[in-house]
Amino acid sequence: MRYTEDIIEEVRARSDIVDVISQYVKLQKKGSSYFGLCPFHNEKSPSFSVNRDKQMYYCFGCGAGGDAYAFLMEYENYSFPEAVQHLAQQAGVELPVVEESREDRARRDHKSMLLGIQKQAAGYYHYQLKQDCGAQARAYLDSRRLTAETIHQFGLGYAEKTGAGLYRYLKGKGYSDELLRDSGLFQVDERRGMYDKFWNRVIFPITDVQNRVIGFGGRVMGDGKPKYLNSPETKIFDKGRNLYGLSRARSSRRRNIIICEGYMDVISMHQAGFTNAVASLGTALTTGHASLLKRYTEEVLLIYDSDEAGVKAALRGIPLLRAAGLHARVVNLSPHKDPDEFIKNEGPEKFQERLDGAQNSFMFQIQMLEREHDLSDPQGKTDFYRAVAQRLLEFTQDLERDNYIEAVARQYSIAKEQLHKMVNSLALTGAGVPKSPKIRTTSETSRKKAEGESARERAQKLMLAWMVEQPQIFGQISAYLKPEDFTTPTYRKAASLLYEQQEREGTFTPVRVWDQFEDEEERKKVASVLNGDLPAELHRGEGKALTDTLLRILEDSLQEQRKNLKPGDIKGLQENMDKEIGLKKLKMDRGQLHISFE
Ligand code: GTP
Ligand code: MN
Repeated sequence: MRYTEDIIEEVRARSDIVDVISQYVKLQKKGSSYFGLCPFHNEKSPSFSVNRDKQMYYCFGCGAGGDAYAFLMEYENYSFPEAVQHLAQQAGVELPVVEESREDRARRDHKSMLLGIQKQAAGYYHYQLKQDCGAQARAYLDSRRLTAETIHQFGLGYAEKTGAGLYRYLKGKGYSDELLRDSGLFQVDERRGMYDKFWNRVIFPITDVQNRVIGFGGRVMGDGKPKYLNSPETKIFDKGRNLYGLSRARSSRRRNIIICEGYMDVISMHQAGFTNAVASLGTALTTGHASLLKRYTEEVLLIYDSDEAGVKAALRGIPLLRAAGLHARVVNLSPHKDPDEFIKNEGPEKFQERLDGAQNSFMFQIQMLEREHDLSDPQGKTDFYRAVAQRLLEFTQDLERDNYIEAVARQYSIAKEQLHKMVNSLALTGAGVPKSPKIRTTSETSRKKAEGESARERAQKLMLAWMVEQPQIFGQISAYLKPEDFTTPTYRKAASLLYEQQEREGTFTPVRVWDQFEDEEERKKVASVLNGDLPAELHRGEGKALTDTLLRILEDSLQEQRKNLKPGDIKGLQENMDKEIGLKKLKMDRGQLHISFE
């Protein structure tokens, strides 16, 4: 048995999608929607929209979209019943007790089996470290000055030389080859069959925030290549939404969280008392990481290696953190390369001083900008100031902007008034003001989408979008256009659902239309229409465009119907001809068509 439609609808109606999503994504109101950075793909300017009236979210960048349930399933990896339970609990709706469906149960079992395998593997590696075969690994960790307590806390381990031990061990526990393959811990080759991915490496178990092992990093002892080997992503291991050390750092008493690059750095910092350190998992920082961090802290300290790659990584990370509503500061460890090295050479007190002296991330960005310009050259200097002014424009609050203008003026000995003027004149010309996503007409993705789509489909899509955005035209349109006239099956179905609701209730709820689609591709398509992802045409929708689109759909419908006529279907032919005559008349006297948005 499953939850009934009524219950599902009630829970959805009692939850507000803007509140739900705000717990994960920082949203800002723009017009009738809220916008933020999409948590499902990497981006710098917000194209992720949430609409309270429609109770839907939609990303204009990647096309992800749906209702609050869909969001939770995507973001939290919940099954549908889990998403219902989560929302019901937040909304204070009491749910009837129901049994899980077979697929949900299977999916949950699969996940928990994979978690079980990771846990067993962590135990196995840790045990090996303590055996005779682990002597070299113990010596290595000792040379890196890790204490027995630290090794225990982080559950470090060792993968022995043969590369067959873990496989044998887990087979002994009764796991199937199929499941072991999904765990990411093995490699398969035709000659050798299945064998361990990690061998002769020190092992770092990676845990999620709930401290469950979800993957591993393995380091060679010495200078071999590759230095680190990491588990691939699996059903339970998402590198963009997990951070090494976070399960410990989240309960640290310190007021901020330190992000660095390496496993060893995290461990050294924790050992030295900086228990708020985390690292990304061999990948760049993502918006997923930023919103994860926002759950536990207000301020992040960034520590990247003091080389060019490190600076680049910091510059990439800062806007993501800021967009998630986090304060970011950048820690300078020079002349040392990374926290591990710094602490070994200078000790924890000096390290604390560097943390305290961390630079405001905006000032860091400006300083890096300075490096790109030759300030001894008048042109270079002008360009630099202009670039600075451009950046200052990004602060939307006057007070904050003024404070930064002052700080920059002080740092670079410019007259404050001068900089003020520059920022203001830039603001007036409109340069540098971030464009609102709605009027962005030819983003890469929407252009691609348009190419793959016929003019016929586009007309239907446009009409549906108009009806959703401007419900007052429904009556005028429905006088001429029936759901059957939509020739693309997805849009025909959407239209008939919309008409049905409109006729029954005198209004429609887009999310309930979307909800009737099951296929993933179709859901995306419909979400895109319901959310008005047709920037250019949608806003050029004056009466003429509306009439043209209506006629075009009727024409296509007529052709399609004729194509499908069976030989001998006299009645059908007669109907079709009548329709044709009707359409001709309509076209000849299109002035009669008083269709408009007014
Ligand atoms: P140590 O040399 O042991 O101190 O390592 P570290 O933690 O200082 O790492 P380093 O600064 O060299 O690299 C930072 C992070 O990048 C590591 O923790 C890994 O996650 C990742 N990484 C480094 N080298 C490799 C590699 O060869 N392959 C992969 N996949 N990831 C790597
Ligand atoms: Mn290091």
